Amino acid sequence: MDLIEQLEAVRGSARASLRGLATEADLERFHQEFLGKKSALTEAMKSLGTLSPEERRTAGSKAHEVRTEIEAAFAEAKNRTRGAALEARLAAERIDAMRPSTETRGRLHPITRITRELEDLFSFMGFTILDGPEVETDANNFGKLNFSDDHPARDMQDTIWTTGDALLRTHTSSVQVRAMQLFEPPFRMVAPGRCFRFEETDASHENTFYQAEGMMVDRGLSVANLIHVMKTFLSSFFERDVNVRLRPGYFPFVEPGFELDIQCLVCGGPGCPVCKHSGWVELLPCGMVHPGVLSAGGLDPAEWTGFAFGLGLSRLVMMRYGIEDIRHFLSGNLRFLEQF
Ligand code: FA5
Repeated sequence: MDLIEQLEAVRGSARASLRGLATEADLERFHQEFLGKKSALTEAMKSLGTLSPEERRTAGSKAHEVRTEIEAAFAEAKNRTRGAALEARLAAERIDAMRPSTETRGRLHPITRITRELEDLFSFMGFTILDGPEVETDANNFGKLNFSDDHPARDMQDTIWTTGDALLRTHTSSVQVRAMQLFEPPFRMVAPGRCFRFEETDASHENTFYQAEGMMVDRGLSVANLIHVMKTFLSSFFERDVNVRLRPGYFPFVEPGFELDIQCLVCGGPGCPVCKHSGWVELLPCGMVHPGVLSAGGLDPAEWTGFAFGLGLSRLVMMRYGIEDIRHFLSGNLRFLEQF
């Protein structure tokens, strides 16, 4: 076989080998075999010197052509193989940074859960969710809610004062004032949040607890609307029909004011230890917004009417989960929290 034939044979076998290149090792082997120092091609090029000038020119140009072709094909194969390997690695190591973690670290506090549930139910009834500050002015917490300076009702709330006329809000009713300033009536809002009172703690009293304020302002609202909204919310929340009753209750910012009780969900009415054998459980204070409060909020009481309620959220959560002591909530006790 003369040199030209040898070079053609090398080209043929290189072309055939190229097709099977898939890994780095294949590339290495190919390079050694066809382009390495001991390859047939290198040997052929070395032997060019033994040829006559005429033959050397022809064979030399053939050798150059074959080498160029093999080098180009090798470079392409290398890119293809490495590209495919990179693709495969990227696919295997794919990280979806937006996917929620499957690892469970911590969990929602029972009060957070019930707050979210309450917000969902009230949103469904067309209420806007509002958030008010925990540090409030005396005016928003008391003054504009019809508490006169020497009103005995002021003593009912043992207040934690900060500086000047600022205090830690003793109830979420301060958000009523903010809502009247924020919205053009008619509106409906619910404002869950933390409240603070300077008081002795026991199984049902904390110095830091949660309430949810509700307020609806429109033309021509009556106690019937209040009862309807309360019944709708409580039936959805407890997932069964709930009977309610109103007893008179005094709050300076509502007139008339009520204490709303629900028929005991444990015994259904005849009486049991949970309802202290009365058949009813005291649940939340409420009433029709006092005309003086509407005026203080910039609304004309001749045109607008409203009702409001103040749900003891911490106690509602206790009822829902059968928690016997309110102090568990802020205890930071993991054995308590991990039950939910
Ligand atoms: C009020 O705070 C009125 N702002 C409620 C209201 C709103 C009346 C709108 C009318 C119209 P009261 O002080 O009763 O009312 O508290 C309401 C609820 O908060 C109570 O029924 C109770 O569930 C809860 N609560 C009050 N004090 C504490 C406390 N120290 N620890 C835990 N829960 C408390």
